[in-house]
Amino acid sequence: MPELDGTVSLITGASSGIGEATALVLAGRGSAVVLVARRQERLEQLAERISGDGGRALVIEADVGSHEQAERAVDQTVTELGRLDTLVNNAGVMLLGPVQDAPLEEWEQMLAVNVAGLLYCAHAALPHLLRAAEDGPRQVADMVNISSVAGRVARLGSGVYNLTKHGVGAFSESLRQEVTQRHLRVSLVEPGVVETELQSHNRPEIREQISETFAEIERLRAQDVADAIAYIVTRPRHVAINELLIRPTEQER
Ligand SMILES: NC(=O)c1ccc[n+]([C@@H]2O[C@H](COP(=O)([O-])OP(=O)(O)OC[C@H]3O[C@@H](n4cnc5c(N)ncnc54)[C@H](OP(=O)(O)O)[C@@H]3O)[C@@H](O)[C@H]2O)c1
Repeated sequence: MPELDGTVSLITGASSGIGEATALVLAGRGSAVVLVARRQERLEQLAERISGDGGRALVIEADVGSHEQAERAVDQTVTELGRLDTLVNNAGVMLLGPVQDAPLEEWEQMLAVNVAGLLYCAHAALPHLLRAAEDGPRQVADMVNISSVAGRVARLGSGVYNLTKHGVGAFSESLRQEVTQRHLRVSLVEPGVVETELQSHNRPEIREQISETFAEIERLRAQDVADAIAYIVTRPRHVAINELLIRPTEQER
């Protein structure tokens, strides 16, 4: 039974990995999906796949680190599809390495996407989500913020990524308290290591270190996290999954 019929979900970072898998799962559950990222071609391919399966998808090329582009993505969603019931704040970058001599552009990029981008999307989406909770088919709306195990545990070589994801956790809990009486559920998802493109953007020596650290582990698939997100947004109105930590079984820390 498609539980999300009549709803609209906007997924940031839908051009690969967890975002792409989430778009497919939510579309399969009956939601119209809005695919947001910078690589338009990848989004178009995904949209074709979704419409081929009988779903509805809208592609919006946007850099969420730009306030204007994040706002435009939300505005265009509501203009073209009439509403917004679910925001999956998933776009993110993970650029690891020691603090000493780190390229500052890497820190700036993580702050721009993981923190500012998430805040811009949340800010723009909030009035629409609150409206959807009042008049939507489900009488409830969802904001799912993708953090990480790195949002709970700090590790050597992960300082700024840790900072951004701890920030996502703090913001999510504060916002949850602000809006939960109005039936907008704010949920935090904290995946362990997932097989995606995330680590590929690191410098070669860092990539090697990451691969070594997790060499023995069978990683999560993006689909595993997408299933967790689908579980969150398909709960009955009186159930809110506030926080969900999901690791590969073999991952110790
Ligand atoms: N993979 C893991 O092990 C893991 C673990 C814990 C948490 N996470 C979190 O999961 C989320 C998704 O990551 P993933 O693992 O699926 O990695 P991924 O495959 O690299 O996906 C990242 C997505 O973010 C988008 N993105 C990056 N910068 C953007 C920007 N400025 N504006 C709009 N979109 C942007 C990328 O699209 P474009 O490049 O096309 O813009 C891409 O679609 C991230 O927040 C990450 O921190 C991942």
